[in-house]
Amino acid sequence: MGNKKVHTCPLWAGYLLICPLRRLIQNPEKILSPYVKPGMKVLDIGPGMGFFSLPMARMVGEDGKVFCVDIQEGMLSALMKRAAREGLDKRIEPVLINPGAGLPLPDEPLFDFCLAFAVLHEVGEKELLISEISGRMKQGGLFYYAEPKGHVKKRDFEMTLGFLEKAGFVLKERPKVMRSHAAMLLLPVV
Ligand SMILES: C[S@@+](CC[C@H](N)C(=O)[O-])C[C@H]1O[C@@H](n2cnc3c(N)ncnc32)[C@H](O)[C@@H]1O
Repeated sequence: MGNKKVHTCPLWAGYLLICPLRRLIQNPEKILSPYVKPGMKVLDIGPGMGFFSLPMARMVGEDGKVFCVDIQEGMLSALMKRAAREGLDKRIEPVLINPGAGLPLPDEPLFDFCLAFAVLHEVGEKELLISEISGRMKQGGLFYYAEPKGHVKKRDFEMTLGFLEKAGFVLKERPKVMRSHAAMLLLPVV
């Protein structure tokens, strides 16, 4: 809460996170294809160099879009270079933000799906960010939240789940992802 001091994933670690071997324990297609469908508008919070963003750009197809929101220009430029090499750059919108300064996205429910994988533990202003995301999600939209077990204690993961529930999301399932705490939440239709 507040402006808690946090550690930001350095660029060199961004390169480690896109290592193809990671797919053996965290396969993006296996993890996300049950939820991400053609034509969807997706928000990837803290995408790093796009380990999940590029597969999601394939899943949403030509009519969908993946908005990648990060605080580090270096992460987003590496992500877009990788996307261009795979012909996926037109489906991805990089969004550089200042932590705590709000989301520079249209102030309307736009997104069908949001992924926050291994990022919320790095966010000092978690509650603010979560409430801003919830305002941009369509009713019926899904929020996939995951954190690395080594870095994030179960108690802290559960506390952030509480912030998500306070922002209106309802816990639907706890998917099994190796070495991770994971939860799938829904923004109900009211
Ligand atoms: C550990 S990396 C995870 C990258 C990616 N999600 C993955 O699983 O490979 C965390 C990323 O979140 C970004 N980040 C940290 N604080 C953020 C914030 N307040 N808003 C958006 N991104 C943030 C970092 O710059 C970094 O790219």
